[in-house]
Amino acid sequence: MTESQLLQTVEEFGSPVYVYDADKIESQYKRLTNAFKTVKHLKINYAVKALSNISILKLFNSFGSGIDTVSIQEVQLGLAAGFKADQIIFTPNGVSLDEIEEAAKLGVKINIDNLSILEQFGTKHPKVPVCIRINPHVMAGGNANISVGHIDSKFGISIHQIPHILRIVENTKMTINGIHMHTGSDILDIEVFLYASEILFETAKQFKNLDFIDFGSGFKVPYKVGDIETNIEELGEKLSTKFNAFCKEYGKDLTLAFEPGKFLVSESGYFLTKVNAIKQTTSTVFAQVDSGFNHLIRPMFYGSHHEITNISNPKGRERFYTVVGYICETDTFGNNRRINEINEGDVLCFKNAGAYCFSMASNYNSRFRPAEVLWFNNKAHLIRKRETFEDILNNQIEVDFSIKKEKPMVN
Ligand SMILES: Cc1ncc(COP(=O)(O)O)c(C=O)c1O
Repeated sequence: MTESQLLQTVEEFGSPVYVYDADKIESQYKRLTNAFKTVKHLKINYAVKALSNISILKLFNSFGSGIDTVSIQEVQLGLAAGFKADQIIFTPNGVSLDEIEEAAKLGVKINIDNLSILEQFGTKHPKVPVCIRINPHVMAGGNANISVGHIDSKFGISIHQIPHILRIVENTKMTINGIHMHTGSDILDIEVFLYASEILFETAKQFKNLDFIDFGSGFKVPYKVGDIETNIEELGEKLSTKFNAFCKEYGKDLTLAFEPGKFLVSESGYFLTKVNAIKQTTSTVFAQVDSGFNHLIRPMFYGSHHEITNISNPKGRERFYTVVGYICETDTFGNNRRINEINEGDVLCFKNAGAYCFSMASNYNSRFRPAEVLWFNNKAHLIRKRETFEDILNNQIEVDFSIKKEKPMVN
């Protein structure tokens, strides 16, 4: 996306605004499928939670992608976007049996990560095949909140509990059609994937009716110039070789599945804000923008880095700024950043704003959530309107306090 396209978007749709580049999403999708081109059956299930706008889902549908969902609402969104039920996998954690049954009724693939739920589901629905999410006890991921495959994690069924899974399968006569793992996000080292894949292959050998093995996701994307990223091409080559050898041994061409969020959409997104005020204190120059962690929580939540540039003055002299929001708590987007000179009214652009940005936005401080715009075919398409005051009041119910109390209140 060019700076002039971004500025044009703010002019047309106002600020703050999320902007996504459809070409970048498509090129990431192609890069991933190309890396695994020697695998006969490959399935990419886009992780809806990363960015769940229905137009983004429709875009993925147009590529032939499937989707990975974690709530019944995401399943419903996927169906509304036109995905066939068998193109949707439901990978929840900590949800009720009722919710899993509701998803199964809709015909989507079911992924279970809890022995108790597995036993109950298998007993009631032995004819519905399910995938098992394994916890391989691998410590991987960019930080503690997004490392989900280690021994203390709430996710997955421990590899040490495989005998228990097998007993449930034998007793209920249910079918296990897939084995899955997801160890974390922002995994740098492809050796982690390769090591965990060995565990998955060993596990898979114990299940005779598999259709697919799902390696989850966790690919790290670059957040700044020169940043390290997961080497998808190398991973593709090495993992495909291992996978193809495993299929030979297993006696069936299984599907190799992934469910990336960040890799597919992070770099496609830009968050554009306007500078409300410059505030010089004794130690710092703050640039205060018309947004806060209500719209982009990752820096405050995970300490994530988003590059920030001044697209109104890209040739200006570089100075140091701390970029903050308007929330009534500390909401720092970036500390001591070298940015081209900022004037009040300038447009600041936050990069890597495609994944876990709008989808984690809230109405905190009773602010409107921003508009979302998708650039597709060289044209800006509004894909979500900016909220209005009606949206803030929507679903709130007012109590009539003017009704006289019958009896005085007693302590
Ligand atoms: C089960 C599961 N699959 C896939 C993803 C997507 O991960 P990423 O955005 O790092 O690709 C997540 C992220 O939380 C997840 O929990």
